Amino acid sequence: MRKAGHIVASVLDVLKDASKPGITTAILDEIARKEIVSLGGKPSFIGYMDYPAHICTSFNEEIVHGIPSNRKIEEGDVLSIDCGAIYQGYHGDAAISLCIGDVPDETSKLVEDTRLSMVKGIESSLIGNRIGDISNAIQVYAEKRGYGIIREYVGHGIGTEMHQEPSVPNYGSSGKGLILSSGLTIAIEPMLTLGGWQTNVSDDKWTVSTKDGSISAHWEHSIVVSRDGPEVLTSLTGRP
Ligand code: MF3
Ligand code: CO
Repeated sequence: MRKAGHIVASVLDVLKDASKPGITTAILDEIARKEIVSLGGKPSFIGYMDYPAHICTSFNEEIVHGIPSNRKIEEGDVLSIDCGAIYQGYHGDAAISLCIGDVPDETSKLVEDTRLSMVKGIESSLIGNRIGDISNAIQVYAEKRGYGIIREYVGHGIGTEMHQEPSVPNYGSSGKGLILSSGLTIAIEPMLTLGGWQTNVSDDKWTVSTKDGSISAHWEHSIVVSRDGPEVLTSLTGRP
């Protein structure tokens, strides 16, 4: 699983550098496919519930599951890229959000605070804690700063399947839910907005957007709970 995670981390690094104004998300998708395969992995998104691409690319008010297309990246966009890969039967899954060029301060803050809320969740992923402790750490961090927290899409267990038990919501009560034990592998993925939490799925059946049109950001890491503390599998350093 570490290797699967490291493939995803490397691919996202390449995609981050390639995400410049004028580049289409279809080009990013093709870069992702090539990189995953050249690193010895297998793309996990394509064909998953008939999903038609190798990554998800979600712009601005789009939250998750945007399908790569001929849409060009523009200055001022927030672009979230979600990538998954399989290596020797094990999955890695991670997402980043990027500010393209100059964006308003509140937008860049949303993007960084969404990442930091994920870090709070990761830091709570300690043996003996519960899933609710992760959820609550994310919720408290996000709500203190006034962000909307998406509720209909959540983090998840990950392993031989991309999505397994348990669910890892981005809101909830500490002290509730599954007790974390050594070796548990989960994907922690807060989705925060500058507005409300309600969502809409577009006619393409995939793209999830905020109902109120507010900007959204999404970050995700796959991690393993261990005696040495949480290890981030989708980071080459093991740290967020
Ligand atoms: N990676 C997404 C998640 O974080 C799932 C992508 S859905 C797919 O759970 F269809 F694109 F694969
Ligand atoms: Co995920």
